[in-house]
Amino acid sequence: MQLDGRTVLVTGAASGIGRATASRLAEAGARVVVTDVDTGGGEETVDRIESEGGNATFSELDVRDREAFNSVVEAVDEESGLDVLVNNAGVGHAPKPVEDLPEAERNFVFDVNISGVWNGCAAALPVMKARESGAIVNVASLAGVIGSPNLGAYSLSKGAVVNFTRTVAVEAGRYGVRANAVCPGFVEGGLGTQYFDSFDDPEAARERARQGYALGRLGELDEVADAIAFLASDEASFITGESLMVDGGFSVT
Ligand code: NAI
Repeated sequence: MQLDGRTVLVTGAASGIGRATASRLAEAGARVVVTDVDTGGGEETVDRIESEGGNATFSELDVRDREAFNSVVEAVDEESGLDVLVNNAGVGHAPKPVEDLPEAERNFVFDVNISGVWNGCAAALPVMKARESGAIVNVASLAGVIGSPNLGAYSLSKGAVVNFTRTVAVEAGRYGVRANAVCPGFVEGGLGTQYFDSFDDPEAARERARQGYALGRLGELDEVADAIAFLASDEASFITGESLMVDGGFSVT
């Protein structure tokens, strides 16, 4: 997979899947714009990439802020053109039945997970359409395509991302711009670990989850990063509007 000379922007790249993706894309030759609200973590991602011989810079960006997203994208586009946007930033919530999840928590999840992806697409599409090329990869979730008890706001937000990705693909396709999503199952790290740690017995919760996976295990950050890198690359040139399950076979079990 080659991304030599491409410029990619990854949101939420200070940790977890975003950090692994930024590293993977840099390894493939891309210049990576690492963005996050977490400045320390973002700079650490840049240091890691540079120590491996890659090219990366950090820009602080809260994906909920549309103006800020526009500014970052415009600056990147002026400097080198924006070839790939990975809308990865996302948040979860404490597992609770729908009727018990406080409205403020629900709205926060919607704001980051839905408005954040919207803002990213709204910022990137004009510059990509003008250049008649580009690829967007949205990080959705297995929870966006199957029923996910006690994760109501999260699953609603990720289901929205799956369908929005289709809409963007149709709007942008004639301009040479592709849009796809990945739907990871539980991966160790980031929100996956946070979810299991919310149980009294995290190891028992992990074991219950593993039972649902055809591969009999949870995923790893790099396995999601590889799928994102594929969809971002020319190897996926005839794939658009797709939501790729990266779930160890959970959804077919
Ligand atoms: P993580 O918590 O390690 O990474 C999320 C990153 O997003 C953090 O660095 C955080 O600072 C950043 N972030 C949060 N709010 C932000 C905002 N408003 N603006 C900019 N950045 C913000 O979590 P993880 O697991 O790496 O999550 C990444 C994506 O993968 C999320 O969209 C999540 O929903 C998705 N995902 C994760 C799964 C897992 O098991 N870890 C499974 C399925 C999907």
